[in-house]
Amino acid sequence: MNSNRLRSLPQLLLALLLTFAGAQQALAQAGSTADVKTQGVAPGATAGATPALAVAPGAAPAGGDAAAIAAGDALFKGNCAQCHAVNEQVVGPALGGITKRRPISWILPWVKNSSKVVASGDAYAVELYNKFNKQQMPSFALSDKEITSIVAYVTSQEGRPAGPTVANAAGADGKADATGGAEAGASTGKYVDILLIVLVVVLIVLVVTLVIIGNLMKDVLRGRKDLDGRDVEILEQRFDWSKLYRSPVMRGIVGTVFALVLLYEGVQSVMAVGLTQGYQPTQPIAFSHKLHAGEHQINCAYCHTSVYKAKSANIPSANICMNCHSQIKTESPEIKKIYRAIERKQPIQWVRVHNLPDLAYFNHSQHTQVAGLQCQTCHGPIQNMEVVYQYSALTMGWCINCHREMPINSKDNKYYDNLVKLHDTKNAGAPFTVSSNGGTECSKCHY
Ligand code: HEC
Ligand code: HEC
Ligand code: HEC
Ligand code: HEC
Ligand code: HEC
Ligand code: HEC
Repeated sequence: MNSNRLRSLPQLLLALLLTFAGAQQALAQAGSTADVKTQGVAPGATAGATPALAVAPGAAPAGGDAAAIAAGDALFKGNCAQCHAVNEQVVGPALGGITKRRPISWILPWVKNSSKVVASGDAYAVELYNKFNKQQMPSFALSDKEITSIVAYVTSQEGRPAGPTVANAAGADGKADATGGAEAGASTGKYVDILLIVLVVVLIVLVVTLVIIGNLMKDVLRGRKDLDGRDVEILEQRFDWSKLYRSPVMRGIVGTVFALVLLYEGVQSVMAVGLTQGYQPTQPIAFSHKLHAGEHQINCAYCHTSVYKAKSANIPSANICMNCHSQIKTESPEIKKIYRAIERKQPIQWVRVHNLPDLAYFNHSQHTQVAGLQCQTCHGPIQNMEVVYQYSALTMGWCINCHREMPINSKDNKYYDNLVKLHDTKNAGAPFTVSSNGGTECSKCHY
């Protein structure tokens, strides 16, 4: 009987646990590198990207270059994801397959200043611009290399199902088709998962076996008469929790972790004061934008009648619902609620979702009619929302950021003719953004 080994059982367990934690981390890393690799070799990725990228000026990274893809990923999420997804249309077109539609020599100037490309009369650009209701994509001060890495990222994601990072926060509605690339990625993920589960099971079995062996050995010891002092000590050995509890080092560590968590939570909640992004109240009637604006394609302005004409977008009164629901679904309990409101001559008490503080001035008609912005730019994929939620942050920074980047839609608008001329003579080349027209001055938005 080796009593030395027995004494070190707790240490052995600890060591095992530590090895396990280490192994798990290493595996997770292995998993993510495997993921990056599959991204690089995903079908279509190298095939689509390499020829297009090869013609890029300034030696662009190759399609399989994981670093370029990772850089492109970050740039895409920071700049483009609010309007674009790879495999589905959000505000702008799905960017998947872009290298097959357009050469990189077209994409570079487009991302830098799309309105210039449209103004140059480029047939593809003009058609696209008209197809997207003359909505202007903002200009981006990105380098050729940065744009190429975004394209490399997009190409690597082609055919993958919409991930959680896609702007379409409604998620469940992302109907992306799963093709080879997605399956390859998913199967690697599954493989790593299975490996992890097997490892955990093996470790648990190992730990249980060791404990059983340890106990068995103690039993053997107990059965013997000729025990010396050390053996007795081992038999009586108990782990002393109170020592751990009283240890100043342990208290210090626990106290510091607790304080840090509290501080973090505190800072987070202070930063979020007044932020209501994601707010999704339950409405008195289960009215679905997905059904009405999505599936039945009822125009937003059919119900929000003042959105192109006035400061506020109105919420439709019950008569607008009755245009249809005096005929459609008249027996539904939800529709009965509309009837009840009309009989009682009481408005339906919708819960307001978006609400700027009174100190700020925001005008819908200026943004929808004059600027030609799509509702979805600010309100997100409303046509996919079963229940409306606040998609954008509606902070001052959000307004200002867009005003800094967004070129003014000055086409066919005489008001801007002189201003554009003045701007162009002074700052040739720079886009005529909202802020160059004073759109970031305090008094424009504050009374
Ligand atoms: C505010 C919304 C918005 C943002 C942000 C945005 N885009 Fe766009 N993008 C559009 C719209 C809308 C179109 C369609 C053309 C038009 O109406 O001008 C478009 C078109 C495109 C096209 C042409 C697509 C095709 O199918 O031919 C490319 C390429 C593109 N965008 C790349 C980008 C990249 C790269 C970024 C990020 C650096 C970006 N866009 C950011 C709105 C946006
Ligand atoms: C059939 C009528 C109808 C159509 C069509 C419709 N809406 Fe609505 N909308 C409503 C009603 C009713 C509410 C209030 C209840 C709610 O919030 O769901 C509402 C609420 C909203 C809100 C939240 C308002 C708030 O309280 O802050 C937004 C934003 C919105 N709609 C945008 C849109 C957009 C964008 C479209 C087009 C894609 C659209 N709606 C189409 C009837 C409609
Ligand atoms: C332009 C026509 C139109 C207008 C206007 C309209 N709806 Fe609808 N609504 C429909 C259609 C079509 C359906 C789907 C009926 C079906 O599934 O058979 C529907 C379904 C519904 C349903 C689901 C009913 C159920 O039990 O399945 C509700 C609730 C509803 N509408 C509420 C409203 C409210 C509230 C308004 C006013 C803000 C409104 N609708 C305005 C066309 C309209
Ligand atoms: C430039 C961003 C932007 C665009 C584009 C935009 N909205 Fe809004 N919308 C807002 C903001 C900001 C509010 C909150 C306004 C407030 O509280 O005064 C809002 C509020 C609303 C409301 C609640 C009622 C109100 O006026 O406060 C509705 C309904 C609405 N929007 C519908 C639409 C529809 C429909 C479109 C497209 C035709 C649209 N919006 C386009 C930013 C936008
Ligand atoms: C997605 C881009 C976008 C967002 C977000 C946005 N705006 Fe704008 N805004 C524009 C554009 C484009 C114009 C220029 C319209 C025009 O041609 O007059 C504009 C113009 C304005 C003007 C008139 C400026 C002038 O020079 O007369 C005001 C005021 C304004 N916005 C307020 C706001 C406020 C407040 C918010 C945030 C709650 C906001 N905007 C968010 C794009 C945006
Ligand atoms: C494009 C529109 C816009 C411009 C330009 C703008 N603001 Fe704001 N500002 C807003 C909006 C919208 C809010 C409300 C945001 C919120 O509630 O988070 C706000 C909030 C504020 C607040 C916070 C008020 C509070 O109670 O939290 C202050 C202070 C402020 N603005 C000062 C300024 C100053 C100073 C300038 C000029 C340098 C300026 N703003 C320019 C749109 C604008």
